[in-house]
Amino acid sequence: MLVGRKSFWRQLQASFFRLLCLIPTGFPVRSVDMQRATDNITVRQGDTAIIRCYVDDKASKVAWLNRSNIIFAGEDKWSLDPRVDLVTKGQLEYSLRIQKVDVYDEGSYTCSIQTKQQPKPSLVYLIVQVPANIYKMSEDMTVNEGSNVTLSCLATGRPDPLITWRLLNPSAEPLDGEEYLDIIGITRTQAGRYECKASNDVATPDVKYVNVIVNYPPTIKKTQSAEAQLGRAGALGCEATAVPTPEFEWFRDEKRLSNAQGLNIQVLGTYTILTISSVTEEDYGKYTCVASNRLGVQNSSVFLYRPGTGRDINGSACVSQSPWLLLASIACLLLQC
Ligand SMILES: *[C@@H]1O[C@H](CO)[C@@H](O)[C@H](O)[C@H]1NC(C)=O
Ligand SMILES: *[C@@H]1O[C@H](CO)[C@@H](O)[C@H](O)[C@H]1NC(C)=O
Ligand SMILES: *[C@@H]1O[C@H](CO)[C@@H](O)[C@H](O)[C@H]1NC(C)=O
Ligand SMILES: *[C@@H]1O[C@H](CO)[C@@H](O)[C@H](O)[C@H]1NC(C)=O
Ligand SMILES: *[C@@H]1O[C@H](CO)[C@@H](O)[C@H](O)[C@H]1NC(C)=O
Repeated sequence: MLVGRKSFWRQLQASFFRLLCLIPTGFPVRSVDMQRATDNITVRQGDTAIIRCYVDDKASKVAWLNRSNIIFAGEDKWSLDPRVDLVTKGQLEYSLRIQKVDVYDEGSYTCSIQTKQQPKPSLVYLIVQVPANIYKMSEDMTVNEGSNVTLSCLATGRPDPLITWRLLNPSAEPLDGEEYLDIIGITRTQAGRYECKASNDVATPDVKYVNVIVNYPPTIKKTQSAEAQLGRAGALGCEATAVPTPEFEWFRDEKRLSNAQGLNIQVLGTYTILTISSVTEEDYGKYTCVASNRLGVQNSSVFLYRPGTGRDINGSACVSQSPWLLLASIACLLLQC
């Protein structure tokens, strides 16, 4: 009996196959079925898919096929997959439920309904979507200015995710790159936090970040010469940009200065202040500020002037905005100059 039934369904399976082969010619399949043949059901990986099938009371035999394999023949389950079962409502609904859908479930499913002698398949294409997921991202890196840098951001997902890059500076404009972002001859302004976003509209995009530090040698941006009266304090300043943060030294002619009686050198990140607490006649003249890091060294001259002689000389009269100047003024106040 059981063998007999199964052989019937084998015949159905075979006839279904013939039917499918005939579809391109359009021969025995009605246009309604052709319409159904292109139906898609989209489901996210891990979710439950219910593929609906409604049966009218004229149907004598019903079956579900995955591609060309029978999953259910009537109420008989042929599939060994525990995730698969039927959703029925009396004689009228004969739907297929697949739990924890995975990518290999993607494909065509057929609800085959036999009415009189003619099997009438209704075909549904199950599309399995997977949210975008970045599985490999460049590690944070430190490079020298001028190097060629490639940042990578590899992602999975169905459909294939779109990868976009931004440098999270104030403009944060999109950059021209996909899985790999090539930066030829990186500059200091291209240092920062890079964002990679992988999106495929299945779920919220996946976002990951990589920090790029760009090393460059010191450039002395600003120096501050000063005028000071005999016996009062004088403060000289020097500011440099560099990555890593520069080291500073002060020289008087060839002699390196250090903290000593009446002499104070402060280094505050990218700037330094040399304070002379009580100026003597020999203190007037030229000083050299030297900024260095492992990529290079630069020096610049700074002057301590007698009262009234510095005004026509660069920078000495315009004492104001830069932050170290403020500190120099504070240092000056503390030392009562
Ligand atoms: C089903 O998906 C395919 C691509 O997978 C597409 O070409 C077709 O137009 C879709 N059909 C419907 C009815 O959305
Ligand atoms: C459908 O068939 C494919 C290929 O044989 C198989 O990997 C998958 O597990 C099947 N899915 C279901 C729900 O039967
Ligand atoms: C960086 O790439 C450019 C263009 O591909 C090439 O001409 C140059 O030699 C490269 N520089 C380094 C340091 O590899
Ligand atoms: C400053 O730099 C010049 C060359 O750029 C060099 O000759 C001089 O010795 C340097 N001075 C100091 C104090 O390092
Ligand atoms: C003043 O600055 C100019 C350029 O900014 C420079 O060429 C000149 O040597 C400076 N003069 C003095 C006395 O430092």
